[in-house]
Order: sequence, then C-alpha cells, then structure tokens
Amino acid sequence: MTFQQDGILHHRQSRLAPHATRAPTREWLFRGVLLCCFAGWALGCSNAAPAGSGTGGAQTTGGTATGGPATGGSASTATGGSATGGVATGGSSGTPPMVGGTATGGTPAGGSASTASGGAAGGAQAGGSAAGGAPQATGGTNSGGVTSGGGSSVGGKATGGSAGGGTGTGGRATGGAATGGIVTGGTGGASSTGGASGGSTSSGGTTAPGMLAATPPMGWNSWNKFGGSVTDTLVRGIADAMVSSGMQAAGYQYINIDDMWQASSRDSNGNIAPSASKFPNGMKALADYVHGKGLKLGLYSDRGTKTCAGLPGSYSYETKDAQTYASWGVDYLKYDNCSPAAGSNIQTDYTNMANALKAAGRPILFSICAWWFYNWETSIGQMWRTGTDITDTWDTDSHSFISLLNNNGGWSGRYSNASYGSPGLAQYAGPGHWNDPDMLEVGNGGMTDTEYQSHFSLWAIMAAPLIAGNDVRSMTAATKNILTNADVIAVDQDPLGTQGKPISTSTTLEVWSKKLSGTQTYAVVLFNRTTASADITVTWASLGITSASATARDLWSHTDLGSIATQYKATVPSHGVVMLKVVGD
Ligand code: GLA
Repeated sequence: MTFQQDGILHHRQSRLAPHATRAPTREWLFRGVLLCCFAGWALGCSNAAPAGSGTGGAQTTGGTATGGPATGGSASTATGGSATGGVATGGSSGTPPMVGGTATGGTPAGGSASTASGGAAGGAQAGGSAAGGAPQATGGTNSGGVTSGGGSSVGGKATGGSAGGGTGTGGRATGGAATGGIVTGGTGGASSTGGASGGSTSSGGTTAPGMLAATPPMGWNSWNKFGGSVTDTLVRGIADAMVSSGMQAAGYQYINIDDMWQASSRDSNGNIAPSASKFPNGMKALADYVHGKGLKLGLYSDRGTKTCAGLPGSYSYETKDAQTYASWGVDYLKYDNCSPAAGSNIQTDYTNMANALKAAGRPILFSICAWWFYNWETSIGQMWRTGTDITDTWDTDSHSFISLLNNNGGWSGRYSNASYGSPGLAQYAGPGHWNDPDMLEVGNGGMTDTEYQSHFSLWAIMAAPLIAGNDVRSMTAATKNILTNADVIAVDQDPLGTQGKPISTSTTLEVWSKKLSGTQTYAVVLFNRTTASADITVTWASLGITSASATARDLWSHTDLGSIATQYKATVPSHGVVMLKVVGD
C-alpha cells in the first residue's frame, strides 16, 4: 500500500530521534539510592513508630518494605496508631532502581486504620495498594508510582487496612484503588495493606474489579493488514469472525479501528465524524453491533492537528472528541503522535486527552502511541508504545520484529539496538499499565509460522498487549493455533502483571523468564535467534526456584513434562522457541 509505506517512512525519521530517556533512568537510579538509604535509616528507627507496627511488612515483590516512623499501625489488624504525621515511607525495594515500588508518603500520614485514615502516606508499594484513608484534603501524593506493581493514588480513599472499595483520582495502584481516574471498586485482598500504613505482608494485590487493563489488553486492530481500507462491513465481519473463530473465547476483546475512519473534515459544529462512504451507519450503530457480540470498540485519533494519514486530529478538540467517543460507546482510544500543533507540548497534549477521556463519563482505555517511551506516559495511559511501527519482517531493519523485541524487552548494553538503561522498560509494566511493543503480525505472511510462534511467545512473556493484526476471517489453522494458544495467553494475562526479561548471558541462545502468580511459578521461553537449531538449557536456580526439582509443562505441545531435577534442556529450532511453565516442587 503506497500510502502506508509513505506514511511509515515519513515518520521514521522523527521517531528515532534520541529523546532523553536516559535522564529519567538516571533519575530513578538516583531516587532508588536515596530511598534505599532512607529505608535503612527507617529500619534503625522502628521504635519511633506509634502503636501498631513500626515497620511495614515484607513485600513479596521488591524486597523489604519499611514503614519507618510515623506510620499507622498494623493495617492487618486495622488498629493502628494515632495519626502521627510526619514522613512516612513505604520503603524501597531491594532491587534498584525502584523495582517493587517505593513510596514517599509526604504529608501527615497515618491515623488508625480503624478510623479509615490510612493517610496520605498510602505509598505505592509493590503489589500493595496506595492504602489511603479518608479522602485526603491535601491530596497526599504518593511518589514512586511508576514502578513495577507500584502506582500512585492521588487523593485516594480507601478503607484502612484493606483498601477495599478504594477510590482515587488520576492514579493507579495495584491491589485496589483507582486507575486512570476511573473509580474501581478495588479489592485489596490480603495483600493490600502495604504502603506507609505499616502493613502486613504485601503480596501483589489482586486486581480491582473494573480496573482498565488489569491484564494486558487483548483485541484486534485494522492497521497492519488493512491500512486505510477499513469500513463498516469489514469491522462487522471481523467482529463476527472474532466470535466464530474462537478468538473472543481465547480472550480477545477489543475491535480497534485505526486511522482513516474519519471524514476529511469536521462537521459544521466542529464534531469529528466518520467517513460517510466507509461508515454509512455511523459509529454508534457499529459500536452497538460490536457490543452485541460481547466485544468492545476502539477508535484512533492523534494529539496533533492531523492524524498520520492527514485526517483531522484532536488537538484543541480533546473534550469534544472524548465526549463524542463516549456518546458513540467507544471503549478504547489509540492516540497517535503526528502533526503536532505549533508550539504544543507532547506531554500536555496527551494529558489533555487523558483528562478529557476521564471526564467523558465512560471508561475508555487510553493507548498512547507516541512511538518512544516517556515516563510521564505511565501515569496517564493504560499502555504506551515503546518503539516505532512494526512490520511483518524478522530482522530486516529497525521496524522488524527483532528490533522491537530488543527495545521493549532488553536494555542498553544487552543488544546493540536496545535503547533503555538497565533494567529497561520492564519495571514500568503492571496491572493497569503496560509497555506496548506494537501490534501482532502473526498470520500476515511475512514470517514463517515458527517465527510467528516466537513473536507470540515473546510478546506474551513480556506481558505485552496482544492486539492481533491479521484477517481473522480467513486464518490458517496454524495462525489460529498460535493466536488462541490458551497456555501462552495465560502467561501474558497472569494477574501478577510482571514483564518477563531475558536472564541468559547469551544474546543468541536465550532464556527468558517471567514470574507468574503462585509460589515458585515461572514462565520460561527458550529462544533461538540463530540460523541453526540448537540446545538451550534453563536451570531452576536461575529462575529463583529454590527446590531441587520442579514440575514443568510445555506450552506449545501442551504436554506435562513431570517433575524434573535441576534444569531442563531442549533442542530449539532456528528462530523458534520452547515455552514452559515451571513450578518448584
Ligand atoms: C502511526 C502509528 C501506526 C498507525 C499509523 C496510522 O504510524 O504508529 O500504528 O496507527 O500511524 O496512520
């Protein structure tokens, strides 16, 4: 498609500009060091804490959390100390920089959990919740949010100790609270008592009912296969096929219409409108049809004056457009980065739309497509692209599968073309907020089925959104088999929300690992990047399994391998994977 090619080439230049991502990384490192120092100090001062527990409990993610002085009492018993104000710190993780979350409580914290005033020191702590208290007049901002499992809850409200029923604005917290300003009920569960309120054990939290993107979004998008040829008929046909093919049953939910659905100009009232020839029934009718199938509808717009295809963008129309989408029943917005208005600021533009969506009265997932990772994205969107546009190629150039994989899953120093500092982008993924290495190309014909199997496995172990980009009306059996592999999808959708990473020294015969929920439970991908088949071994110890043996399952052959001592060795085909679930005995 000439147009698409032109479009892609056109923005390639600007996308690869070396934006200042290293600086944030250094900043996090710096903060991590400070917070580790603080945690150490707090440990030594635990007797300064009021009644209840002076130190936070151990976090299963991210090491020891130390409540430090001035925290509320034990949230587990909800009978904490008095409101003692002062600085409260949820503690930092043992793994710099800030994996596992940190919390700087800030304003007077505490109060007894029994009076539901966990205080402003909620604290983003791994897997815990920003355990708030009563609505906080001062907002009680928790910093430290953008860490794995962390999050921030501004002005949050939660029942002390359990975080149940928490609400919040603008923040997100695992284990119950708010996401993107959309109120979620939040079930803190046993694990949500963390933060600076003292806290008992924090263990990852449960995802709050109603949280947007509690697990990586799954769906379909029109762009990779159809480009500008998107119509009402196509979308209805795809929705039908999502159901009949088993894609919906496998977990795919969103039907996303990408660029070129719009009319070439706004209507006389300034409203965004669909192309009358492509969408003669309008978007509301199409949304109704999609919803009638039990699916959700996504649309696309742009933070600039025009989209990447030159159609009307949302700049300065954010509120109007968000209201229009909500009135149509739109559930998801992908927001692109072309044609910025003169003098505009990228963060402001994206924030304006995030806020407009929150105010529109309908939960609309915000998918940021700014091509490059910026750490402000993590507090305003549920997912964000971490690189340029994918093409259906193995390793041809910077748009190929391998390139996007390295960027999303690696870190500078590991691969020559990965751009983020240690430990890379994985630290930013978690329930409600995901790194997006771009949509799937599985089934589009440019790679082999073995390569597509690798593409799908690695996206899953990275907890990436699984947005199919093929023609699901006419899939081959092999394509369908890949896209609907329940064992692999379960890895992607694991509620812990950890993004897996390569753990091998080798960068050609690789071992990737992802912690799954459950004791001593891991997903493993053995990935052969070379042009010949080769043996790859994973040892249980390298995963963090402490038992001598572990029980493994092969997630592509769907075979239980039984209990195996010490390690597993497999012969992996060129460009292929072996994928396992391993549970320590
Ligand atoms: C950009 C995006 C793509 C696609 C096109 C549409 O290139 O990165 O994913 O949405 O715009 O024009």
